[in-house]
Amino acid sequence: MADLSGSTILVVGATGGLGREIARQLSEAGATLVLSARDPAAIAALGLGGAVVAADLTDPAEIRRLVQVAVTVTGQLDGIVVAAGVVAFGPAAELAPGTVERLFAVNAVAPMLLLQAAHAALGASAAAGRSPAFVTLSGVVSESPTANLAAYSASKAALAAFGTAAGRELRRSGIRILDARPGHTDTALSTHPIDGTAPALPRGLDPVAVCARIVRAITDGERDLPSTAFTAS
Ligand SMILES: NC(=O)c1ccc[n+]([C@@H]2O[C@H](COP(=O)([O-])OP(=O)(O)OC[C@H]3O[C@@H](n4cnc5c(N)ncnc54)[C@H](OP(=O)(O)O)[C@@H]3O)[C@@H](O)[C@H]2O)c1
Repeated sequence: MADLSGSTILVVGATGGLGREIARQLSEAGATLVLSARDPAAIAALGLGGAVVAADLTDPAEIRRLVQVAVTVTGQLDGIVVAAGVVAFGPAAELAPGTVERLFAVNAVAPMLLLQAAHAALGASAAAGRSPAFVTLSGVVSESPTANLAAYSASKAALAAFGTAAGRELRRSGIRILDARPGHTDTALSTHPIDGTAPALPRGLDPVAVCARIVRAITDGERDLPSTAFTAS
């Protein structure tokens, strides 16, 4: 996807610290955007342009509808960036079942269902000579599972494993899976956990630089962004 003009990219989690910056940089590179999160007013308030499709990723029917509407309003789909996610802190022995379920629903199951729902549209993009990409942000915890983030780490490791296997399956059809694994980055993620409280965290990576690295990987056709790719961010 060296030239993003003429491509349509769906950014899921567009209201987040990383999602909104990735969307801004993709737009700057010429992409047409479809932006998604749960609150349509919050998405519109970003002022990024593009179509707005609200969806709650914990509902599989909403995921199918999101992809359907994205394809209908723009006529094509050349990429999805899954920048939605939730975190929870606390000892593994004290995790509430509902917390574990929600972590897995948003962080692992939703991206799997998004890829399934978008498979035909992304395949059509490849057949038309474009270079569709499906981008996930499993983060450094999928490489180095972290104490007090056991279920979050597990949900992200599941996502990374899914992407690796699906990427192998899809390679011949021209659909590229790209998993990005930055370390702690300065967004609001740790300030609104669905359970627990974040410990005092050291200063994180710069979100603008992290997103620039991800967008460069999208445009340059890269297939993997391990945590080490972000050390200079
Ligand atoms: N920040 C980091 O240190 C870091 C490092 C590595 C990887 N990551 C991963 O990168 C992704 C983005 O993180 P961030 O730092 O940008 O977090 P963030 O600022 O908290 O943004 C989270 C995004 O997820 C969306 N979201 C949450 N639950 C949702 C649901 N049920 N349905 C639809 N959308 C939902 C939020 O939208 P609403 O407006 O609907 O709430 C928001 O757009 C996450 O997957 C995170 O795990 C983050």
